Amino acid sequence: MAGDTLPEEKDKYFRSTVEMGFLMIEEPLLFTPGPVTLPKAILREMSKPMISHRSKDFRELFEDTVLRLQQVFKTKNDIAVLTASGTGGVEAALLNVLDVDEKILIPVYGVFSKRAAETAKRIGARPVVLSKSLPNKEDIFRLIEDNVDATAILIVYNDTSPGITIRFLKDISRKAKEYGILTIVDAVSILGGDVLLTDEWDLDVVITGSQKCLMSPPGLAAVSLSERAWEKVLKTPRRTFYFDFIRYKEYYEKRKETPFTPAINVLHALRKALEIILDVVGYRAWIEMHRRRASFLYSALSALNFKPIMPPEYRSNTVISVKPPERLSPEEILSRLKNDYGIYAAGGLEEWKGKIIRFGNMGYISPRSLLSLILSIATILMEKEIPLKLEELISVFENLLVK
Ligand SMILES: Cc1ncc(COP(=O)(O)O)c(C=O)c1O
Repeated sequence: MAGDTLPEEKDKYFRSTVEMGFLMIEEPLLFTPGPVTLPKAILREMSKPMISHRSKDFRELFEDTVLRLQQVFKTKNDIAVLTASGTGGVEAALLNVLDVDEKILIPVYGVFSKRAAETAKRIGARPVVLSKSLPNKEDIFRLIEDNVDATAILIVYNDTSPGITIRFLKDISRKAKEYGILTIVDAVSILGGDVLLTDEWDLDVVITGSQKCLMSPPGLAAVSLSERAWEKVLKTPRRTFYFDFIRYKEYYEKRKETPFTPAINVLHALRKALEIILDVVGYRAWIEMHRRRASFLYSALSALNFKPIMPPEYRSNTVISVKPPERLSPEEILSRLKNDYGIYAAGGLEEWKGKIIRFGNMGYISPRSLLSLILSIATILMEKEIPLKLEELISVFENLLVK
């Protein structure tokens, strides 16, 4: 938007800010847990001239993107790039790895782990679910030991609905391996935003989407497969045509292409984003940047009397889930942020609906954006005469800006 077109006058965001005495022609600032605000350099990639997906230019673009994806997945494994959102990536993984009636273990602690179980059921597999809001290592070990005939265990590394990170993936995968059980990881809302070492942690299948911590537009899912995962895929009846990983592997190995027409302009954007992440910022610094921003957000929100809903050991660095101070409902804060400041965040889902706010901390967020968010919330609180810890807030700001 900025500078190009005026928002429609009927646009609520535009009107309300004019009523306040300001004309604001600014792009929305997304603190939603994906998709994320994108730098111009990445958006511009989307308007490159169209190329054929059966051309040399495409093959160069695609191979370079896959090699870079391997670097952010921390793997030497094959990666299938699908034109789908994260949900498509999860469904594809399950369809390729599991035959009808095969058992898959799924600890459920949020909407996305619940969806994974529903996906497994719909494709005819047999999900065995452990529903526990804060599962510990022993709970998951027991689930494995009680079901050693399972084909796989699926862990949502970061369930975006409550904002929980399961930090003992490596131990889970080691335990599963003792029984020949594959470890499948839904890393849609965390890969690139926190440590995930696919090879070192021996993860068989890892799934992510383009639109979150990889700072890209929505439209692509990437799925890595270990040798063990491939052995299982090759033994499993081919149940899907569009998501058939064997076909993706053959096309990549023989031609550096995808079997079907991919979202080419999203690929351009993803490649540019990966260049920035890996070459300009550096992988470690990129992860560290997410951690620093998470620490800033938790501290600043605490100075505003918001309370994290997760105990520290489950707290996510990419989805900051908090309860606002009493007297202010999440809905009111979310609508004020949107209507007065053009800042978008998310509310709770299911049992958390109306109780929490979730701030996405994914991809590109500048210090200016962080300050805008926190000061906007502070203003809303002050208007309501809700106390905030101003000195604490100032020192949190100082820590952000002074290295
Ligand atoms: C953990 C997790 N898994 C899967 C998905 C589904 O991704 P998509 O919306 O891209 O289909 C999401 C989306 O937020 C997610 O957070």
